Amino acid sequence: MNKTDLKTLMDSLTLDEKIGQLVQLSGEFFQGQELSIGPSSKLGINQDQINNVGSVLNVSGAEMTRKIQEKHLETSRHKIPLIFMGDLVYGFKTVLPSPMGIGSTWNRGLVESAYKMIANEGSASGVHVTFSPMVDLVRDPRWGRVLESTGEDVYLNGEYARAMVKGFQNDFEPGTSMAACVKHFAAYGAGEGGRDYNTVDMSRWRLMTDQLPAYKAAIDAGSKLVMTSFNTIEGVPATGNKWLMKDLLRDEWGFEGVVISDYAAVFELIPHGVAKDEKEATKMALEATVDIDMKTSCYVNNTKELIESGELDIQVLDDSVWRVLCLKNELGLFEDPYREASIEREKAQVLTQENLDVSKQIADESIVLLKNEGILPLDKDSKVALVGPFADSRLVTGMWAINADYASVVTLKQGVEKNFTNVIHSDEIEIKEDLEEFGAMGKMLLSQFKKDKPESEVSIFDTEEFEDRDVIVLTLGEHILSSGEGGSRTNLDLENHQMELFRKAKQTGKPVVTIIYSGRPLIVDEVVKESDAVIWAWYPGSRGGDAVAEILNGTTNPSGRLSMSFPINVGQIPVYYNHFATGRPFGSTSHSERFVSRYLDTPNEPLFAFGEGLSYHQSEIKNVKLDKESYKIGDSIEITLDLINHSDRDGQDTIQVYVKDHVGSVVRPVKQLVNFEKVAISANETKSISITLDQDAFSMINAQLETVIEPGEFTIYVGFDSKVEEGITIEMN
Ligand code: GLC
Repeated sequence: MNKTDLKTLMDSLTLDEKIGQLVQLSGEFFQGQELSIGPSSKLGINQDQINNVGSVLNVSGAEMTRKIQEKHLETSRHKIPLIFMGDLVYGFKTVLPSPMGIGSTWNRGLVESAYKMIANEGSASGVHVTFSPMVDLVRDPRWGRVLESTGEDVYLNGEYARAMVKGFQNDFEPGTSMAACVKHFAAYGAGEGGRDYNTVDMSRWRLMTDQLPAYKAAIDAGSKLVMTSFNTIEGVPATGNKWLMKDLLRDEWGFEGVVISDYAAVFELIPHGVAKDEKEATKMALEATVDIDMKTSCYVNNTKELIESGELDIQVLDDSVWRVLCLKNELGLFEDPYREASIEREKAQVLTQENLDVSKQIADESIVLLKNEGILPLDKDSKVALVGPFADSRLVTGMWAINADYASVVTLKQGVEKNFTNVIHSDEIEIKEDLEEFGAMGKMLLSQFKKDKPESEVSIFDTEEFEDRDVIVLTLGEHILSSGEGGSRTNLDLENHQMELFRKAKQTGKPVVTIIYSGRPLIVDEVVKESDAVIWAWYPGSRGGDAVAEILNGTTNPSGRLSMSFPINVGQIPVYYNHFATGRPFGSTSHSERFVSRYLDTPNEPLFAFGEGLSYHQSEIKNVKLDKESYKIGDSIEITLDLINHSDRDGQDTIQVYVKDHVGSVVRPVKQLVNFEKVAISANETKSISITLDQDAFSMINAQLETVIEPGEFTIYVGFDSKVEEGITIEMN
């Protein structure tokens, strides 16, 4: 529809019809499936109000969405279609690895194509907008939603944000693409104590330096929507924060798309204590230009009174309604309210072998080999004892894979039995003994995974067939409901019963290859010390079983590299690579050994560093050269290097480029990732690589909150992880 007609349509709406466009309800209000996870409460909304509603939360399926849309259009006076929005965070029916795993791929192109696959599946099933990518920067693994993030680094998160938005929106054609909604704006990952929904408070300088760039990257990549976060920013909850949502997001960044609140976040301005009732909450959120109220009755029950009493300028309402109508128009819904969703498309585009292969490929590159005392890869005829509660489990998708088709998930047992000739298996224990902590929701979710066969009473370690085993492949980890939303924990150890199983495996005297499934870094120093090899699988998704098994037997040469530091213990948190030096840096100061920035009982370094990961081949970086000795501000920098594969095995290496700014007008990180390239390299090959740094690599936020490049000395490091020490120092003036 052209803008003139759209404006005519808007001007013809009654106040109630305008307000309805700003309301989002879940499936239960439309006889759909209730999939939204969160505090659901009867909202006291009447049928007329439901008939005016503008969008639907977490309903999918071509048949269901078409039925709801048809019924809605019958009752809608102006035939304004609904938008269907949902959490296709890292998959739809076909599930990718959880984002901590995706963050470990360091493969921009693969991530973009994988997210295009998600859009292909979801749009065929009637979903128009996805509540993804989640780009919150996280340095605290106690926060359950580390699961959904790509990690601790501002540059890397920005690269993934761009790739994911481009993947979802690609050519924006109906039936194969969908609108992205970057979340959670802003800084949701920085909650105090790693506790979900908790207070975020930091300087605006730190917010702009660390937290905001990845959201900006998603918006610059064209994300059509932004979702507010539950937390405060400078004392004001994001959902009612006019500086954040209007002055910064819209006026300074020029974002003209739709802002949607997170689930019930408009209402939550009341418990936050910045609104005394729903009316005040409504006014605050609308004036902050939050366009859609997700799943509360605030907008629908209070906006009319605010307008009619003159407390709220009608222009504020009209601006929000206009943005929502423009989104519907951009989606082409006025021409095709179903956006080409159909049962035929679903059959052709959902859970296809091609999609499952994409999930496999990204799983291959998400898995991180953290230790290998020469035992991996295993020969396919090795006599394997596959042990532990994840071995035969489909619970390897992470909590936000709410649309997952679990029947198509390949378990590790299935993968191992395809790739090895002699396997015995026993779960031995449950992933988690006490499910009480997950409450009713947990029981509902888990009811579909009841084990259909009781485990044998005798431990596999005590059976005769175990005696001739060459290796124990032991699976341990975090239950999928032990992370994710509302999954913050103060203790990140593996559960006691899992550690007992680990120690029992060790006592057999056989080599132990430990595979860990989790949504986040865990505290695993004993397991790492005592295992012969450690593979971190994250939640590897629909084809996880194949991906892990093919790393075990060497079909795949692991290439995953961590996108988040692993702390030695919880007391060390937050521990991250691009920290500031402090005035008393441990190990490089004249102060006595005691009076420096360190702990008495734990090293400063993490157990595993950002960027770290092993492969089955051995590569070396040599002959790193820059195109000049000194540079002017504004110059780009050409880096050349030789990558040498000293082994007879093909593989992939991620060349990581870090910069250290020696002196700034504000403190500067000890080093900062500024570019990377993932490179395939053949056996015994020497490859010349060139990587360009543009001026963004040297920019910073100064104390006046300006983005500047300051002259001076910089060191450029080129290595395989953030521990790289050798660099080249240049002058930039
Ligand atoms: C949840 C999450 C958000 C999700 C939304 C809709 O509470 O915070 O990430 O998109 O509700 O399900």
